[in-house]
Formats: sequence, C-alpha cells, structure tokens
Amino acid sequence: MCWPAAVRCALVILVSLSTLRRDGNGASAIYTSNDMSKQSLADNRPGSSLDGSGGGANGELSRSSRTICRSFPGLTRKQLQQCRRAPDVVASAISGIRIAVDECANQMRDQRWNCSNLQTKNGNPYTNVMMTRGFQETAFAYATISAGVLYQVTRACSMGQLRTCGCDTRFVGDEVDFQWGGCSHDIQFGTTFVESFLDCKEKGRDMKSKMNLHNNGVGRIAVAEYAVKKCKCHGMSGSCEVKTCWMQTPHFSEVGDRLLVKFHEAKQVVARNNIGGNLRLADDPTPVTADSQRRRRRKRPPSPPKDHLVFLEESPDFCQADPGVGTLGTKDRYCNRTSDGPNGCNSMCCGRGYNIKLERKTEWCNCKFHWCCQVKCRQCSQSVWVNTCK
Ligand SMILES: *[C@@H]1O[C@H](CO)[C@@H](O)[C@H](O)[C@H]1NC(C)=O
Ligand SMILES: *[C@@H]1O[C@H](CO)[C@@H](O)[C@H](O)[C@H]1NC(C)=O
Repeated sequence: MCWPAAVRCALVILVSLSTLRRDGNGASAIYTSNDMSKQSLADNRPGSSLDGSGGGANGELSRSSRTICRSFPGLTRKQLQQCRRAPDVVASAISGIRIAVDECANQMRDQRWNCSNLQTKNGNPYTNVMMTRGFQETAFAYATISAGVLYQVTRACSMGQLRTCGCDTRFVGDEVDFQWGGCSHDIQFGTTFVESFLDCKEKGRDMKSKMNLHNNGVGRIAVAEYAVKKCKCHGMSGSCEVKTCWMQTPHFSEVGDRLLVKFHEAKQVVARNNIGGNLRLADDPTPVTADSQRRRRRKRPPSPPKDHLVFLEESPDFCQADPGVGTLGTKDRYCNRTSDGPNGCNSMCCGRGYNIKLERKTEWCNCKFHWCCQVKCRQCSQSVWVNTCK
C-alpha cells in the first residue's frame, strides 16, 4: 500500500474542497465523495473495513479480520491470542493504528521528522527502530497510536460492528432539558481493550517501557476525557420539543491537535533507580530555597503528571538519515524559501541549501455539490516552482 500517496491525496482533496478553487484547466478525471468531512476521508480509505454504510456484513468483517490477524506482522504472542479471541476488535484496533499514523504525518507535516518512518512497509509502526527509543517524538507516536486504537474501537462498537460491545448503557433516561437517546460511545470498553492490547506489549520493568506505558495513558486521556455531548432536535419544523443527546468521542483530528500541544510541552524524565523505580521528572519544578534544597537532597523529585508526555532521551536533529534512530533525514524534502518556521528551507535543510525546480501539480478542482450527497470534482494541473532540500 502506498501510504504517502494516500495521505497526500487526502490532503489535496481536503484543500480543494475547502477552498473550492476557481477555474482550472484540463479535466481528466472526476472525483466523487459522499461526505465532505475530514473524518470520513480518513476512515473511508481503501483497506479500512470500518465504514458504517459500505462495510458489509458482520460475517465478512470477521473473516477478513482473521486474515488481518495473520497478516499484521509484529503482534506479540499475547496480542495474537487476543486476536484469535476477538478478531473483529483487533481488526478495528489495527485500523486505529493506521489512522493514528496518518494523523501523526498530518500533525508533523512541517517538521524535519514527519512521521513517515512509521509508515512501515509491513503496516506495523511498532517495528520501526524509533519506537524502541526514548525521544519526544517516540512519546508522541505512542500516545497517538494508543488514542487511535481507542477512538476506532469505540466507534466500531457504536456502529454495531463488533460482537462484544455496543453503546454505553449508562446514559439512559430523562434529564432536565433533554433525554438520553441514540448510541453513546462506550469509551470504557475501548479503554479497557486498549489497556490490554497495547500495554501488554510492555513489561513495565525498565524505564523505557515505563515511559511507553505512561504515554499510552496520555493518548487514552486525550480521547476519553474529551468526549462530547451531541444532541438532536425533534418536533415540528425544527422546533425542539424533544431533544435527544448522546456522548461521543471527539473528532480524531482534534485529538491530534491536542497531542501536538502535549508534544511541545513534553517533560524529560530520568532513569534514576533503574529497577523498580518510578518515572521522575528530570527538572524538579519546585522553587529552590535554602530550606527546600536541604529537603530536596532527601526527597525524590516528583512523578510526571498523568496527562503530560514524557521522554528519556534528547532528540537528534533529524537532519541526516540514521538507521540507528530509524529516520530518513530531510534530503529531498519540500521547504518554503520565505518561511521562518520549521518548514522554511533554512531550518528544514539544516544549512545544506536547497534546489529549485518546476513541478507539475495535479489537484481536484471545480468541486460541485450535488444534492444529495455527493461532491464531484475535476482534476486540474498547473506548473509551480518548488524548493527541495539538498
Ligand atoms: C516526509 O519525509 C520523508 C522523508 O524525509 C519524505 O520522503 C516525505 O515526502 C515527507 N512527507 C511529506 C508529506 O512531506
Ligand atoms: C511560504 O511561507 C510564507 C511565509 O510564511 C507564506 O506566506 C507562503 O504562503 C508559504 N508558501 C507556500 C507555498 O506554502
């Protein structure tokens, strides 16, 4: 499967849908979509069997998930056992891993490290060397994947696609100005599943594995604690005589935004007391006074907060390809000559300079909305000057 192409394609479609470009030239293909939201673009990618409308019968899903169990490489023995017991849930977990890696690439698109090394040939990001390291980027990846699995399993439950879960039955009955109705997402089921499916990869004894467990937790929090109440009005012509509401997970792009903020605020922890010790902040935030300094020598520094990403190692600069780190470097990356940000050629190319070339770009354009509910676009191409790193 060609991931980068799929990601780029989705982005181009998004851009052209959101800007509804003016006239273009040439029309060689028609793009048709039945939903314009970003969510559905991510979820309707080929290979994802979790689309509610076109997903097919349950039997088909479970048969194809059994195939997925066997063909998804790098599952641990415990994960394979889980897969045999509940292939349908694991299939949506794997689909969650996929949307997480896509979201990672989207969040990091302007950075030297853009997540592309996690788009591994075998489809399992955990098999990349970087996932065995202790960088801030590793922390982000663990949290995003854990969030993706929770998100996707919970959604599959609510669509009635999995045998062992459904809607959250705690949300029933009448409230003051609405009543619970529809399908509340069963985030508790998803959380329990993610804990057993991803956390069981970690032995939890060494610092690295403690770091991963912590960051998995941060990912779950970024979904579970931001569930939102959605409501629908019923009654004559838009009046809201009866309002029914249900709880659902936030959009995954919002989860990605939130985790990106956490990435920038990640805290370094130290491997003090290597065996049996807990993670401790490297920088003790308590202000230093003569008194506290005396106490500090005896007292251990505090544990990191549950909703903060933590890392153990300083990141490399990601300028060069490095097999020990599992990254590809920034040679041939696109950069922006006039930007001062991380995507500017100065920063992106690490001072090596950049090439200028004319490139033909193809985009979807002239998108028209057809009632109801399709978007039809033409394909336009134009030549643009681009810069790429030497
Ligand atoms: C991400 O980086 C890789 C390697 O540096 C590059 O091949 C790829 O095109 C980049 N992806 C995007 C979307 O810029
Ligand atoms: C490059 O960066 C500048 C300044 O941030 C911005 O105005 C411009 O739109 C960017 N160009 C492209 C092609 O993204």
